[in-house]
Amino acid sequence: MTSAPTHAKGLEGVIAGETEICNVEQSALIYRGYEIADLAENASFEEVAYLLLVGRKPSASELESFENELKSERSIPDSVRSFLKTSGDLVHHHSAVPMDLLRTGVSMLAHLDPDCQDNSPEANLRKSKRLLAKIPTIIGHMQNAIDARDFIEPDSSLSHAANLLWMMTGEKPSDEAVKVMDVSLVLYAEHDYNASTFTSRVIAGTLSDLHGAVTGAIAALKGPLHGGANEAAMEMLAEIRADIGHENDNAKIHAWMEKAFADKRKLMGFGHRVYKNGDHRAPILHGLGRKAAEARGEEFVKLFDLGEEVQRIMETEKNIFPNVDFPCGMTYYTMGIPVPQYTPIFVASRITGWCAHIMEQHANNRLIRPRAAYVGPATRNWND
Ligand code: CMC
Repeated sequence: MTSAPTHAKGLEGVIAGETEICNVEQSALIYRGYEIADLAENASFEEVAYLLLVGRKPSASELESFENELKSERSIPDSVRSFLKTSGDLVHHHSAVPMDLLRTGVSMLAHLDPDCQDNSPEANLRKSKRLLAKIPTIIGHMQNAIDARDFIEPDSSLSHAANLLWMMTGEKPSDEAVKVMDVSLVLYAEHDYNASTFTSRVIAGTLSDLHGAVTGAIAALKGPLHGGANEAAMEMLAEIRADIGHENDNAKIHAWMEKAFADKRKLMGFGHRVYKNGDHRAPILHGLGRKAAEARGEEFVKLFDLGEEVQRIMETEKNIFPNVDFPCGMTYYTMGIPVPQYTPIFVASRITGWCAHIMEQHANNRLIRPRAAYVGPATRNWND
């Protein structure tokens, strides 16, 4: 019997294609030539969305018309609104979680988009902008239905980040909260061939449509090894808090971590396939989140203190660093966002990266079809 050809489990280290959109390196994270810390400091999410979707930095007038276009596309069709009205029932009495409802909402939008079956660059860009504009509305309406309240309508005086917070909570967010949300969206926007983006490229590579590719990407992002880690990280911190009590007793935190190591638990929000010395996005969000916690009060500062101790133990004992999802969990919690909406918010940002990749795939397509190393039974006869 011949042995199976070698392969990289999980495609680790495999270069699966080219992209002009993003470069993920140990030393830097770069969107179309701009370093992530530069973007987080100096660019709005809308500017980054334009950069990713159109391919270059917008002029002031291009940005203004892009922002206006997005605002004019925020409302969603009646049939999708009717579906979202059932969110409370689906979440409270059945098995749905917000990521599933968002996936269905996006899939429904496909049926009503006049460009749905058109994969031309112009149609793809129009569809990308519509999805970017409408996803916060789906998230907001869904949360309103889960909270058993009337739908809060989009507010065209607000930016993407501010409108997202407004629609979920019904409260006009502070400038500080908008800034934190905006930066988190910048940080989440793009990350080369991560699992969900690769999923979207595989789907687009069959010449399937943009909405279908995005729907598949949402399903891929949901998992806790990928985007679902921001929710899982916060759930883990809540579990530690429930186990050790309200005070941050370092001996108890240490004991909790030692047990987790002994049980070979994967600690959520830590580790990365590419970044082995730390995720460039994590300290940026951690700094902003910590500042927000200090403004909100002791309970939130204690949460960050707990997270920092967990992080210190992971780094010193395992040499494993937090990824962006770890500070994200604590930051969104501090902002009062319901935990099951953390990954949908990731979608409200990553939709830009996915759509950029889908357009890049369609523009220079070849079917993505790798092979598998067969390790099943040798050939045999059905009648033996
Ligand atoms: N907790 C404990 N041990 C870990 C962790 C972790 N979070 N991450 C890696 N390790 C250990 C792992 O047990 C393994 O040890 P050993 O060689 O002794 O078996 C070693 O480090 C290599 O881990 P791996 O799982 O083979 O690494 P990978 O490249 O396949 O996985 C990962 C990367 C992100 C899936 C993994 O680190 C993980 O499961 N992390 C927790 C989930 C998470 O935070 N995901 C978010 C990813 S980044 C942002 C995003 O996509 O949203």
